[in-house]
Amino acid sequence: MCGIIGYVGTGKTADILMRSLKLLEYRGYDSSGVAFCCGKNTEIYKCTDRVSVLEKKIQGRAEGSHCAIGHTRWATHGSVSEKNAHPHRSGRVTLVHNGIIENYKELIQLYHLKEKLVSTGDSEVAAALIDRFYDDDPLKAIREASKQIRGTYALVMMFEGREDEIFAVCKVSPIVIAQNEEGRILASDLSALTGTYENYFVLPEDTIVRLSMDDLCLYDLSGKKKAPYWKKMEQQDRALDKKGHPYYMEKEIFEQGTALRNTLEPRIREGLPDFSADGIEGELFASHHHIVICACGTSYHAGLLAKRVFESFGRIKCDVFLSSEFIYEKPFMEKDALIIVISQSGETIDSLQALKIAKEEGHETLAIVNVRDSSIARNADYVLYTHAGMEIAVASTKAYTSQLSLLYLLAYRFALCEQERKEKVMEKIRELKKVPDAIEAACRDKERYAGLAGILKDEKDLYMIGRGRDYPLLMEAALKMKEISYIHCEAYAAGELKHGPIALIEKDTPVIACISQEDLLGKAASNIKEVRARGARVYAFVRESLAKQLDMKIEVFPLKDLEDELMPFSAIAAFQLLAYYTALEKGVDVDKPRNLAKVVTVE
Ligand code: AGP
Repeated sequence: MCGIIGYVGTGKTADILMRSLKLLEYRGYDSSGVAFCCGKNTEIYKCTDRVSVLEKKIQGRAEGSHCAIGHTRWATHGSVSEKNAHPHRSGRVTLVHNGIIENYKELIQLYHLKEKLVSTGDSEVAAALIDRFYDDDPLKAIREASKQIRGTYALVMMFEGREDEIFAVCKVSPIVIAQNEEGRILASDLSALTGTYENYFVLPEDTIVRLSMDDLCLYDLSGKKKAPYWKKMEQQDRALDKKGHPYYMEKEIFEQGTALRNTLEPRIREGLPDFSADGIEGELFASHHHIVICACGTSYHAGLLAKRVFESFGRIKCDVFLSSEFIYEKPFMEKDALIIVISQSGETIDSLQALKIAKEEGHETLAIVNVRDSSIARNADYVLYTHAGMEIAVASTKAYTSQLSLLYLLAYRFALCEQERKEKVMEKIRELKKVPDAIEAACRDKERYAGLAGILKDEKDLYMIGRGRDYPLLMEAALKMKEISYIHCEAYAAGELKHGPIALIEKDTPVIACISQEDLLGKAASNIKEVRARGARVYAFVRESLAKQLDMKIEVFPLKDLEDELMPFSAIAAFQLLAYYTALEKGVDVDKPRNLAKVVTVE
């Protein structure tokens, strides 16, 4: 969702802004804009197209500028239009915003701002409000406005009459800041910081920062100066090179073997799980007897599968919640419950809120995230990073399998809390180490899935059925299919068919059946027969070693063999490829499916 950039320095401002905006594109956006400080004037350029179109628009403009702010907008309030795109200018204030101003209507009334507004969103109201309070003291104006605004925000501003200065303030929505000998830069996330920076800091909530050509100052909301908390910048894996793949999604599917090896290897010592390098010692596992997982979308699906491993092998009770529902469910949690929040981006607002609620209730929290120093990582008591590398495609692939691998490893670690399970855990780890190769082998079969994609591309509805672990796995497979191919696709627990969904089956309805668990072959095969008897056209994704036993005249797609518990890994690779090629057949922009954003920072 919305991305922000701001720069003051002697570098080529327009080039820096454009490069950063391109790096923010992955978050998802529908319009973009920049404002350059050019002496006493401010030049604003906007467009409702790709950043590359905005880039053409500003060619040869604002060449002497040393200070600018930029924005990629994902519409929440107000339609997609140049008028609603940021930056917004109101009086002497030019501003970009990420987040939602909840009380914007009240503010319009209270401060009689209506006449000043040209857009229909909430962000311009912040600009108008700050301008209302502005009497040549930007800090005072921002302070006053912050006291009035309710909601989440990262606001970055330039003030008329104050050349080459940028101000910013934030609540919940993050801002990171870095500097080098050329200048100072701020952005919504680290991946957008172009240039070489050794250190950076995260702007604390309710803190105002002023960036100028020669310094950088922080103030709290009472006007007192504060010191930034600098951190060392790690090598940024920007992964912008598609490495010969037409889309990032394909590249990321193919990178899964490496992502899993990088995630698992540092946490396996002498054949056993070991999280001490992450700052997690044995006590954490011994002191919790209940796990509560909160996550959204694909990360939630990883949680659903992990629950089965936590409970069946880890022998620890586990409940899984959609972060957005966690607040309303008010679940019963044991006093010693460990809350695990799973998030690729580490910025999903619903998951961040769930984490904060759990902390307020006194629970210990553990985050599984892919993006270093993201909001969820910063707020959790413990963090386990998935080392999947930057994931750019909206459809999550390598982050999901990396999350899953870490969750399995955690379950195995919990199992060690019981006496005499060391050998069994070692055996599990040996099997887990085979997963990366199995995923890579599945990727080599891509032509098969591409072939099926050609058949499925024009379907309106598609059903997926499976039992046991195959059910939560298929929920993820169906989400992949929906989000990038736009085919309505639902996963059902095969045993539930007779309780309703089978009414949907008619002649030629496409059904994908997944059978990866040995002990479920018989029952799953009966379910296939039931839907076929009603005319369904069935495609069976079956574990290689079981395929021969499925004595039916249907098309079978063999899944690479792993032990039962690990089969979801080789199956998901097949389903990711199927969704990818179906989207490709349909000519969809696979990496940027309609209406979706990679980073979901609004509720
Ligand atoms: C995955 O393909 C989706 N784009 C989406 O469901 C995603 O997993 C969800 O928004 C959660 O994101 P997070 O993992 O960054 O918190």
